[in-house]
Amino acid sequence: MKKAMTVPGILLGVICGLASAQTPVAPAFASANLSPAGIRSMAANCAACHGTNGVSVGGAIAGLAGMNKEYLVNQMKLFKEGRREATVMQQLAKGYSDVEINALAEYFSVQKK
Ligand code: HEC
Repeated sequence: MKKAMTVPGILLGVICGLASAQTPVAPAFASANLSPAGIRSMAANCAACHGTNGVSVGGAIAGLAGMNKEYLVNQMKLFKEGRREATVMQQLAKGYSDVEINALAEYFSVQKK
């Protein structure tokens, strides 16, 4: 199985992080791994809370499977910008670039509930 983050990718992230440490700009992201395996492993980061492939078990936290793509993108952006109240998602959403959010939204929108 391919790893989502390659060592060069992590190093790039660290270097970009250091480079931007002095100037308060938006965080730089390592280039996204948008291969099918890359997207799957990104989506796996959501599984602990939203269920495997976004199929929620128990219903305490919303399932993401089959959710409208635009809705998903918009909610992630609202969380990221701190415009939607949340317990954990504001912080989590900050870890994803717009390109990654788009890929995640596409992925979950086509999963079967
Ligand atoms: C630690 C648990 C946790 C993880 C991991 C997690 N979420 Fe969430 N998610 C929540 C909770 C809890 C909420 C409800 C809002 C809140 O309180 O943060 C939520 C809400 C959401 C919503 C809004 C759902 C709706 O019905 O409006 C979306 C979209 C979402 N999460 C996407 C994701 C994606 C994509 C990932 C993976 C990148 C992810 N979440 C990872 C816990 C989690």
